[in-house]
Amino acid sequence: MNITCVEVREEEKIFFEQELPTAKLLAEKLDSSMLSTIRDTEILCVFVDSLVTKEVIDALPHLQLITTRSTGLDHVDTAYATSKGITVTNVPGYGKRSVAEFALALLLTLSRKIFDAYHQVRFNGDYSFKHLRGFDLGGKTLGIIGTGQIGRHLAQIARGLEMTVLAYDVQPDPAIATSLGFTYVDFDTLLSGADIISLHVPLLPATRHLLNRDTLAKTKPGVYIINTARGELIDTTALIEALNSGQVAGAGLDVLEGESELKDEVELISGGQQMADVQVMLENHILTDMPQVVVTPHIAFYSKEAEREIVQTSISNIKSFMKATPTNKAQAL
Ligand code: NAI
Repeated sequence: MNITCVEVREEEKIFFEQELPTAKLLAEKLDSSMLSTIRDTEILCVFVDSLVTKEVIDALPHLQLITTRSTGLDHVDTAYATSKGITVTNVPGYGKRSVAEFALALLLTLSRKIFDAYHQVRFNGDYSFKHLRGFDLGGKTLGIIGTGQIGRHLAQIARGLEMTVLAYDVQPDPAIATSLGFTYVDFDTLLSGADIISLHVPLLPATRHLLNRDTLAKTKPGVYIINTARGELIDTTALIEALNSGQVAGAGLDVLEGESELKDEVELISGGQQMADVQVMLENHILTDMPQVVVTPHIAFYSKEAEREIVQTSISNIKSFMKATPTNKAQAL
């Protein structure tokens, strides 16, 4: 079959070349200018910066499978693809260790002012500790929103650090809460009870701007926010206001609203985008410059172990589709 894989990193290439030698491998993300050159594609393999919209799907008339090398599916119009009989698959659950450990890394970076200390020593040769007092995680309350694969693994880590864990999920799993020692509460109780809130839900219409001006006002003053899920879960304007007022003391963000545009600002400026996109881009710069904010470039998934699992699962998704027994089929949400 005619296979096109986009956003292929060098480290992934060798796996695809061995297992799917006829696949066309492109380093670039999917964009409208490449559609005519990949018109014959029957299997399209993408990553998170490639937006598989209705227009893209319509421009690829032979498309039978869209497979994303990610857990999140918010960049794929799954409903439209499914309505056209196109199968959509993803890589569920690979990231539980990589992403949960990364969320902890962001949290420890904030709680113990690791970056401030590093910069002070490295760039100023200053070994004083006057401005570097942090706080312990043990004894604090972590609020986890979304207790799927990643959220529950973070709960387990947090319990190991002697934290109290509150959780909220639309589909709670009481058995896992009992075995890991965390407590399900309603959304508002989590907001008011947590010293730190970590987001682990998919981006859906119901979760877009889950943290906004109203919900941030219900949090404990001085709360810390960790986001390794999707940038659009947080209203960036509201987060900046809350950081400025001190309602939010700090934020560790691996994902930002509109982050794919941020990676290519030239395209954003020349592409006739909406003013709202430009506003989010400017706000992202403001966030990135705030001393109490740590931003990383969507790398929580990017560990040796997770990368291998992602590529192998994606290849197996493609091969099983070709044998007419598709695995990891996604539903339109
Ligand atoms: P999962 O599917 O195992 O868990 C998601 C959980 O969210 C489920 O328990 C579900 O019931 C819950 N949920 C759904 N809608 C909700 C709502 N409205 N309110 C509360 N809970 C809700 O997913 P997993 O593997 O834990 O990943 C979570 C998210 O993390 C992914 O959707 C993806 O966006 C993001 N992710 C980010 C990565 C990164 O590199 N930064 C890497 C991998 C995933």
